[in-house]
Amino acid sequence: MTTKPQLRIINVSKRYANGSAVLDDFSLDIANDDFVAFIGPRGCGKSTILRLLAGLTPLSGGNIEHLGGEEIHRRTSFIFQEPTLLPWRTVESNIRLPLELRGASKDEQEDQAHEIMKLWELSHVSERYPLQLSAGMKTRASLARGLATAPRCLLLDEPFAALDAITRNKLCVELMRVREKRHFTACLVTHSAAEAVFLANRVIVLTANPGRVAEIIEVPETHPRKLAWRETNAFQEALNQVRNALNRVQEAAKQS
Ligand SMILES: Nc1ncnc2c1ncn2[C@@H]1O[C@H](COP(=O)(O)OP(=O)(O)OP(=O)(O)O)[C@@H](O)[C@H]1O
Ligand SMILES: [Mg+2]
Repeated sequence: MTTKPQLRIINVSKRYANGSAVLDDFSLDIANDDFVAFIGPRGCGKSTILRLLAGLTPLSGGNIEHLGGEEIHRRTSFIFQEPTLLPWRTVESNIRLPLELRGASKDEQEDQAHEIMKLWELSHVSERYPLQLSAGMKTRASLARGLATAPRCLLLDEPFAALDAITRNKLCVELMRVREKRHFTACLVTHSAAEAVFLANRVIVLTANPGRVAEIIEVPETHPRKLAWRETNAFQEALNQVRNALNRVQEAAKQS
């Protein structure tokens, strides 16, 4: 890793009430401006890792250090699979919400919301309500809302899973374009090996029961990447590495 870690996950374990260990001895450094993708079998603890990073659930053991000197939870945004927009608020008003909750002035809310809507090409739908938006537009609005407070770290839990392939690819490209302008660290959970390879600098393949880091596949292609890169041998090679690692994890799970 070339840059200083921003986040250090050290020997973390997580056990929910009345359950067995979901994560055990889980360690990973995440660099400033890194884009990591977590992939692994259903129920292996991917969402749990994001929830721990966001402080939405307590650790059972180990530690998460934030080395930027800022309070991690304040500078982290969480994007869920469901866009979770408030149906009674317009797009603009949804995007202003996290700024309102931070106590930002009306002018600041307006400036930030307008800037981020422009970045996500949402200005023309700013007065629409979520019910009046396509699925892709809802996801855009949810991403815009997540970035309204200029987080250092964006946690994305299968944000594109419910979208069709064309919209999904388009939003992946858009996310990389926006990231060039806003410079945040990204942690993505996905079930798509192709999406993981296309977006991430490092794909973290996890084991199940308990969830641990099985293999890390580096994807050195520079950002932002173009859709055409998916047609190259380099992409295919990285994709094969991820798929093979997933197969090994599934095989190991069957034998245990
Ligand atoms: N709040 C909770 N209370 C009890 N058990 C939970 C809770 N949240 C998750 N679990 C359990 O912890 C395990 C890991 O859940 P988690 O949602 O992190 O997995 P995941 O890898 O994100 O799964 P998926 O691929 O289905 O999204 C699962 O067995 C799940 O049932
Ligand atoms: Mg999950």
